[in-house]
Amino acid sequence: MTNKVKIAVFASGSGSNFAAIEEACQKGELNAEIVLMVTNKPEAYVVKRAEQAGIPVAAFQPKQFDTKEAFEEAILATLREAGAEWLILAGYMRLVGHTLLSAYPSRIVNIHPSLLPSFPGKDAIGQAVEHGVKVTGVTVHLVDEGMDTGPILAQRAVDVVDGDADQTAEAIHAIEHDLYKETLNGLFE
Ligand code: GRF
Repeated sequence: MTNKVKIAVFASGSGSNFAAIEEACQKGELNAEIVLMVTNKPEAYVVKRAEQAGIPVAAFQPKQFDTKEAFEEAILATLREAGAEWLILAGYMRLVGHTLLSAYPSRIVNIHPSLLPSFPGKDAIGQAVEHGVKVTGVTVHLVDEGMDTGPILAQRAVDVVDGDADQTAEAIHAIEHDLYKETLNGLFE
């Protein structure tokens, strides 16, 4: 096994993708090591998951900073200290700005619960159900300055379950965990 890739996972929610990535690292299914979990929501469940897994947590709240640049400079200093080589967004509900994008060119990855470019932004599963589409899916993409607009790395289709957002979300999450692992493995080879 070659040297492990050092990754920082950014998450603000329940953290099921964080947990799947962490498990894959532990099992050796992903040649990576999570050196930091970055969140803007210190109360999010993902923080508990990280603590239980013994992964350092860095919580930064934008309101503590005067500008987005200052907010991202603080994150960047912590990332550098931890030696993070790639930034993996997994339910991080903020747009990444110029400071982080220029520090990690083509090294920031996101997962989104739709077949982009359909249904970018918040509540993509709700948007798909509301629109009445029969098939939605999962996209893994590189991050640029737009909202879910960067170059697409991988996609997988998921059937919408009877117009039911909860059941569809369950199916999407299961696919997300596999697709993220596979795509990151391709990137880290
Ligand atoms: C996932 O659906 C991901 O695609 C989106 O946010 C959700 C995070 O879920 N960006 P979880 O916190 O990993 O369970």
